[in-house]
Amino acid sequence: MIENIKKQFEEFEKQIGNASSESDVLALKGSVMGKGSAIAEAMKSMKSLSIEDKKVIGPYANKIKHEMFSLIQNRLDQLERIKINDKLEKNKIDITHLDSISYDKKSIGSFHPVNIVQDKIEDIFISMGFEILDGPHIEDEFHNFEALNIPADHPARDMQDTFWFKTKNGLKRLLRTHTSTIQVRGMMERTPPFRFIAPGKVFRCERTDASHEMVFHQLEGMFVDKNVTVGNLIYFMKTLLSEIFEKDVEVRLRPGFFPFVEPGFELDIKCLICNGHGCSVCKKVGWVELLPCGMVHPNVLEAGGVDSKKYNGFAFGLGLDRLVMMKYGIDDVRHIHGADLRFLKQFINQ
Ligand code: PHE
Repeated sequence: MIENIKKQFEEFEKQIGNASSESDVLALKGSVMGKGSAIAEAMKSMKSLSIEDKKVIGPYANKIKHEMFSLIQNRLDQLERIKINDKLEKNKIDITHLDSISYDKKSIGSFHPVNIVQDKIEDIFISMGFEILDGPHIEDEFHNFEALNIPADHPARDMQDTFWFKTKNGLKRLLRTHTSTIQVRGMMERTPPFRFIAPGKVFRCERTDASHEMVFHQLEGMFVDKNVTVGNLIYFMKTLLSEIFEKDVEVRLRPGFFPFVEPGFELDIKCLICNGHGCSVCKKVGWVELLPCGMVHPNVLEAGGVDSKKYNGFAFGLGLDRLVMMKYGIDDVRHIHGADLRFLKQFINQ
């Protein structure tokens, strides 16, 4: 009996390596372990064996059975690996080889129009000696309001409907309502003279319409030196606008109130969507508020560690989304955050 089992096992050892599919392996398993196999026969005859024979044949048959099981399992694993490797080999894509991907030009991604315009503005300001700064979206009251001359009881806080929240440890925080927060951080980190811009997202708890969004983009600018004038401010703003629109655009300057500048202005441009005739973007007035700006308030300079008796400067907070809308003739600000590919695809060649 032992001889039979041994012979069949040796035979099995030779065959298992040749079983080239899962069904081959299972068929082999049936023939060496199933009905009629030496092992099965041995098990069947166990009850009629003498105790001495049982002691020898029983453990031997079990040992061989285990070895068979493990060889079968190993072969199945091996076949599975071969299958996976085959698949990987067949589906291999050489991503460095353009012809290996079937693509058509229309499926190439594009830059978002806000990024396109932001990049251009950054280049213009870099060429005029400005640094590009960044700052956090989550802010505290100090950077968003107090350091900008807007104390807790100041009615100007209502001008910017704010998303407030509390941190886990109970600290009051907000989503920045304007990029002017970066004026504060920028001033504290450098000594005058300095000039920088800071583009980024800002957040306001507002009802949306064609020209208002809860999340939008601003581009802050700050210029601090000795004897800076409103003339300097207008020069930089006009240079920026004519570079962006690649033509002279009509602008007008109105007084505007912002606690962090004195005097403060609103720089409007003639609506390029309707050419000044009136539309939903310019709310039928023909002009679009684009560039709130002004001379930095001495309190703000002092809060930022700048000696306001020696230095002064200007600041502005460009409405980036509106500028993008004017440049590309987009008639609803909600397209900008709409993530609609049909909208974005129009900017592929920009
Ligand atoms: N931070 C102001 C706003 O969001 C804009 C502004 C910036 C005005 C800088 C003047 C100077 O409304």
